[in-house]
This record gives sequence, structure tokens and C-alpha cells, in this order.
Amino acid sequence: MVVQFPAQKGSWEAVLDLRKERKDDWWEVEALFDHCFAPGREALSSYRLRDDVSPISNLCFVAHDALGVLGGAIRSWEVVIGDKPVLLLGPVAVHPTRQAEGLGGLLINELLAQAESDGWTRVMLVGDYPYYRRFGFSKLENVTMPPPTNPDRVLGRALIGGAWDGVTGTVNKITVSLLDP
Ligand SMILES: CC(C)(COP(=O)(O)OP(=O)(O)OC[C@H]1O[C@@H](n2cnc3c(N)ncnc32)[C@H](O)[C@@H]1OP(=O)(O)O)[C@@H](O)C(=O)NCCC(=O)NCCS
Repeated sequence: MVVQFPAQKGSWEAVLDLRKERKDDWWEVEALFDHCFAPGREALSSYRLRDDVSPISNLCFVAHDALGVLGGAIRSWEVVIGDKPVLLLGPVAVHPTRQAEGLGGLLINELLAQAESDGWTRVMLVGDYPYYRRFGFSKLENVTMPPPTNPDRVLGRALIGGAWDGVTGTVNKITVSLLDP
């Protein structure tokens, strides 16, 4: 999908190709994440939920600019709390030269819209509330990520009303997907 995009807030100059990530994008996306996150990102607790589990291919997006340069990417995984499937959003990153143009928001909103249309009901992530609250995320009470995780950074959003009601406990890696194929 080609989207017009504000190269500077208020103007619509740049054109971005926003599409699902393909297999051959993998290492370019990894390089972008390495560039955007602090060294050792894979030591973060959320990565323990991703070890040996494939991302959800329909919920991984990349955005390239008109020159074919990767500007931003987002991936997601399925995790579980008890017997409840949860969508774990992220990592998401935008190249430093394209930050604060709205691209992060575009990727997150695209993922959330696709997740809703695919039947997901609850989404979580580990991140900065001051950023993610604009997408409807709030702190999840009584949901525990593998340590070490700052509980204030464990955020969730319901895609249908009440989807988080009574969903508490430790977030675990999936062994078998709980969702219908
Ligand atoms: C976080 C990130 C994906 C946001 O992408 P982006 O394209 O720059 O974001 P957007 O253009 O959609 O939004 C920009 C706004 O978010 C704010 N913002 C960005 N990161 C923020 C943060 N961590 N906390 C609070 N606000 C943040 C900016 O100040 C800006 O505010 P404004 O609209 O009031 O000017 C990007 O900054 C990034 O890749 N950071 C490094 C990797 C990272 O931290 N990923 C997220 C892991 S939780």
C-alpha cells in the first residue's frame, strides 16, 4: 500500500510503501532494530517470549521510502496469559532520520487495525506509557512479564470491550497457538 506521508508535520511530501514484512526483509529489519535500540536489546524480557516462536506474519509491517530505504518496521507475536491468547506488539522502530514524522503511529495503527480485523481481542506491549497512551494503551494491573520488567511499562489495550477483564497472571510463551488457523 502506498501512503502519502507528512515529511514534515502539516505537509504531505513523502510517499511510503507500507506493506507486510516478507521473509527476505528479515535481516534488514533486524539491522534497523539494532540501530534504533540500545545494544543488548535481545536480553530484554520480552525476547524470552519470542525465542523459537515465529512472529505473526500478517501482523508484521515494513515501510520503505521512495528510494527503497527502510524507514520503520513493526513485528508482533502471540503470547498467553493462562489460557488466553494475547497479541504482543513490538518491536517497533523508526529510523532516526524519520522519527517524529508520524511513521511510528502509522505502523502501530496499521497493526492494530489488522489485528482487530483478524479477530484479536487484546494487545499488550512493554513500552513508554507517555508514547503508547495515544493509541489507547494503559497500564495492565496484575499482569506480570518475565523479569526484569518495570511493571509500569506493561501496557495493554482491549480491541473489544472487556477483553482484559479477569485476564491476570504471568505472560508466557506459546507452545501451540491458541487461535484458530
Ligand atoms: C518510539 C518510536 C517507534 C516512535 O516512532 P516515531 O515515528 O518517531 O513516532 P511518531 O512520529 O508516531 O510520534 C512522535 C511523537 O511521539 C513522541 N515520542 C516518541 N517516543 C516517545 C517516548 N518514548 N515517550 C514519549 N513520547 C515519545 C515524540 O516526542 C513525538 O511527540 P509529538 O507528536 O508531541 O511531537 C521511535 O522513536 C523509535 O524507533 N525509537 C527507538 C526504538 C524504540 O524505543 N521503540 C519503541 C520500543 S517501546
